[in-house]
Amino acid sequence: MAKIQAIRGMNDILPEQTPVWQFVESTVRQVLRSYGYQEIRMPVVEQTDLFKRSIGEVTDIVEKEMYTFEDRNGDSLTLRPEGTAGCVRAAEEHGLLFNQTRRLWYMGPMFRHERPQKGRYRQFHQIGVECFGMEGPDIDAELLILTARLWQALGLVEHTRLEINTIGTSESRKRYRDALVTYLSDFREKLDSDSQRRLETNPLRILDSKSPETQAILEGAPTLDDYLDDESRAHFSKLRALLDAAGVTYTVNSRLVRGLDYYGKTVFEWVTESLGAQGTVCAGGRYDGLVEQLGGKPTVAVGFAMGLERLILLLETLGLVPDSVNGDADVYVTAMGDKAVAAAQALGERVRTGIPGSVVVTHCGGGSFKSQMKRADRSGASVALLLGDNEIEAGTVGVKPLRADDPQQDVAQSNLLEVLKELLDR
Ligand code: HAM
Repeated sequence: MAKIQAIRGMNDILPEQTPVWQFVESTVRQVLRSYGYQEIRMPVVEQTDLFKRSIGEVTDIVEKEMYTFEDRNGDSLTLRPEGTAGCVRAAEEHGLLFNQTRRLWYMGPMFRHERPQKGRYRQFHQIGVECFGMEGPDIDAELLILTARLWQALGLVEHTRLEINTIGTSESRKRYRDALVTYLSDFREKLDSDSQRRLETNPLRILDSKSPETQAILEGAPTLDDYLDDESRAHFSKLRALLDAAGVTYTVNSRLVRGLDYYGKTVFEWVTESLGAQGTVCAGGRYDGLVEQLGGKPTVAVGFAMGLERLILLLETLGLVPDSVNGDADVYVTAMGDKAVAAAQALGERVRTGIPGSVVVTHCGGGSFKSQMKRADRSGASVALLLGDNEIEAGTVGVKPLRADDPQQDVAQSNLLEVLKELLDR
């Protein structure tokens, strides 16, 4: 029978890869914790309408990328394509937003039926941050300062670049949209086919077009800047001053509009040149109208999400995964003979208790001394402990360094922890 395989664009993350994931996840978690952000966990499935009403009916995500299905009750449900909508829903549903400010984060899989390629998958993982109840731009700046600190912690500072823009209020965008459509209509035939379609549905997304011909036409197009309202303009210039004061470097990209409808005012993307086409590792912006749009009291908000696959790919591509990030054991306990097998588990426990944080693998499943040593070697351990009938009799343990030329020694049980600590510290 043919073997069943994983779904295209949905990846297994194998034991060799999980240490890098854990490294990235724990680094992000630590940074977020240090700014007082709290974790929230939402379901992976929500009502389809939640995404339609927040991300927008005429966005790529809602039009063609959602995994939508009818459940057994006949309700239309969707695997979340992103986390903001669910986070707003959850925060509102549980009264987290009433008369208070919130700094939340979440982590988990998201689902989009995109064409898979390097850095773009159908199941991918985001760590997202959402802040509620703060007008900004101080909180906008905080988010960017926080991400800059994160790149520092991951060793990515020199490989990421920040682009920011303001897309104004929905009224200013509407006035600009009209002007853009008027201008582009004269060039309709020369636009790429996606842009021709977007001219009717979502003209601002044409600014994102990858087609050189379309980009050439856009050279002469009106810019959003001319249509911005005063408040958005002031918000943006204050944000820039805050970033300058904090030493966060950025470029203003007036073409940056983002592909989800809920944004207004500040938008930003952290991009890298090292990943090819899928170079955006982190993106977000303000969405002051979304909570109200989903039925809550008016509550301002700002947030971002980063793609974990892309960050990990970047670390790996650049060879920046620290050597200490691996799934290796520290100590491997071998055991020959029934008495030794019984004693080996107790010995493993002693080492785990005596050297907190140490990774101790106790051999299980029998086998010759030679095969046990092979396993010890494969575990990555730097020391093997050898237990046999002789050692049990004598109250000793054989201590064999596996990665250094040091000789094997017989150590009294009572001295073992001290000797081991010294060996592991090297
Ligand atoms: P987004 O730009 O759609 O924004 O996604 C954020 C990040 O998720 C992207 O920059 C990228 O790193 C990663 N990503 C997106 N799609 C894929 C994919 N198919 N494969 C791999 N990685 C991907 C949002 O999702 C917003 N909810 C961000 C936000 C939060 N805005 C405000 N709060």
